[in-house]
Amino acid sequence: MKIVVAGATGSLGAQVVDAVRSGGHEPVAISRRSGVDLLSGAGLTGVMQDASAVIDASATSSTSAKESIAFFTTVSRNLLTAEREAGVPHHVAISIIGAAGVDANYYAGKAAQERLLEAEPGGWSLLRTTQFHEFARQLVAHGRLGPLQAVPTMRSQPIAAAEVAAELVAIATGDPRGIEPELAGPKEERMADLVRRYLAATGQRRPVIEVPIPGPWGRGMRDGSLLPGAGARLGRQTFDEWLAVQSH
Ligand SMILES: NC(=O)c1ccc[n+]([C@@H]2O[C@H](COP(=O)([O-])OP(=O)(O)OC[C@H]3O[C@@H](n4cnc5c(N)ncnc54)[C@H](OP(=O)(O)O)[C@@H]3O)[C@@H](O)[C@H]2O)c1
Repeated sequence: MKIVVAGATGSLGAQVVDAVRSGGHEPVAISRRSGVDLLSGAGLTGVMQDASAVIDASATSSTSAKESIAFFTTVSRNLLTAEREAGVPHHVAISIIGAAGVDANYYAGKAAQERLLEAEPGGWSLLRTTQFHEFARQLVAHGRLGPLQAVPTMRSQPIAAAEVAAELVAIATGDPRGIEPELAGPKEERMADLVRRYLAATGQRRPVIEVPIPGPWGRGMRDGSLLPGAGARLGRQTFDEWLAVQSH
């Protein structure tokens, strides 16, 4: 089965490409680095030919609601149009547990992406997960404040992106099912603790400060809105188990 992976160089996308391959399928990896700009649509022609599914693992790093909404809706529309033209029957998307309820900043884009898909007549599946273990690494890359490491005050039950990738491929090889049951990690954690453990494991020594982000975005991070519901399926690998096998 030929499966297009959008955002194939990202934290999740790279592992989706691996999971497609290890499932015995053929990945078509697309991102700007491979010459496809999902915002303008440039380079999309021909990419979808003979594909059975598209897994959208693309993302913006913007935290502005306006930019996030523009990114996730434009990319979804461009992918869906290209899929329709090429007769690709299944669009698989990923969102974040609780993001649609918070609907602010970056999460406003995820909420808009969810609404856009829900307005489609069919042909799509959407998996909502918690933050990835890899999110600690992403925070370390972006949250440097002089000699300090700033981390939002945040409750999370993180999951390994590899487990999410395997689940997305399993979904892509089946029929479109709309909203899938939530998938979360095995254990609730505090984001600042994860970043402290990540910094220690990678030999980086700087104090971590927890910053309560103002407004509904930060409130959602703090108040448990991003935690899984009672019916969620749980992944297996804990953050510490994940950390122990990283080459960094
Ligand atoms: N990170 C988390 O903890 C987490 C948790 C739950 C759900 N999610 C969701 O999972 C998805 C992937 O997140 P991630 O953290 O893996 O993202 P990421 O590491 O930031 O990767 C983003 C990917 O999108 C590509 N991309 C960005 N702009 C593009 C454009 N204009 N055209 C084509 N490709 C573009 C990037 O490649 P190029 O730069 O080469 O274009 C890269 O491959 C997102 O939908 C996110 O909301 C993330």
